[in-house]
Amino acid sequence: MSAEKYDPIKYKITTMQNWNLVARDYHDDWASKEIGPFKATAELVKAASVNPSDAVLDVACGTGAVSAVASQRLHPSSRLVGIDLSDVALSIAIRFVPRGQFAQMDAEHIGLFCKFDRIFCQYALMFFPDPQKVLITLGNLMKKNGVLAISVHGSADQVPYFSTIMTPVLTHIPDIRPSGAPNVHRFGKPGDLETTISEAGFSEISITKFTFEYKAGTFEDYWSDYLITTAASIRTRIVSNPKKLTNIKSEAEDRARNFLDENEMIVFPWAVLIATARYD
Ligand SMILES: C[S@@+](CC[C@H](N)C(=O)[O-])C[C@H]1O[C@@H](n2cnc3c(N)ncnc32)[C@H](O)[C@@H]1O
Repeated sequence: MSAEKYDPIKYKITTMQNWNLVARDYHDDWASKEIGPFKATAELVKAASVNPSDAVLDVACGTGAVSAVASQRLHPSSRLVGIDLSDVALSIAIRFVPRGQFAQMDAEHIGLFCKFDRIFCQYALMFFPDPQKVLITLGNLMKKNGVLAISVHGSADQVPYFSTIMTPVLTHIPDIRPSGAPNVHRFGKPGDLETTISEAGFSEISITKFTFEYKAGTFEDYWSDYLITTAASIRTRIVSNPKKLTNIKSEAEDRARNFLDENEMIVFPWAVLIATARYD
């Protein structure tokens, strides 16, 4: 059976439905805690050198992780705006960062008319069907001397949290995702990230790689968390064939053994790239 053809509109609708479904767990278990890749939130805000009077835009803000950290650096009268596709994520952000202004918007069709000194985009650039279009729009929303700060996940071998389960899933269910659909590791190589940002007209691009640790617990903890959050949109397909499910789980467990610590708990390295750039 060949994979369904990738359709950017269908993909965006699925993205919105999926984030509406997982936003609560994503916020409580990941984004609101300084764990694994979310240790990058503070680094991202630091890299952008936010000033108290800055106007800040958080693109694909999700439940407000970056907005929350940025708001600590801002004067109460400074503008802080977050946009995201998911209304459930935004409803959490509104409560998490009460001084922010949040609106449901597609990053590929941002309807804002004010300009910003700092624009953030954490763990989302890879999900946009047309990242160039988003980056060009962000350039046009930038004030003179403004800074764009982006974080993305590293390549598959450097973020085994994803690949430990996803590699066996793709072996047994190769058509699980539409062929050509955006991939979480799409900008995992610094050169690819730099080219994409530069082609959108940005300069003074600086990319720093961080490697954090993520303590996933026992294999059962990791497996159930992964299926509930990260794989929520494909879980039905993964669990629908008991024989394939058994094989996927046992191959993932074999792979996870490479990351056991002395207490037999899984500790994954997690590479994150943080890019800053200017648009003058
Ligand atoms: C991994 S989450 C990151 C959320 C937040 N930046 C954080 O660091 O926790 C990815 C977010 O991108 C949003 N997203 C995906 N595609 C989008 C689009 N086209 N426009 C706006 N938001 C989008 C999702 O709804 C989701 O909240």
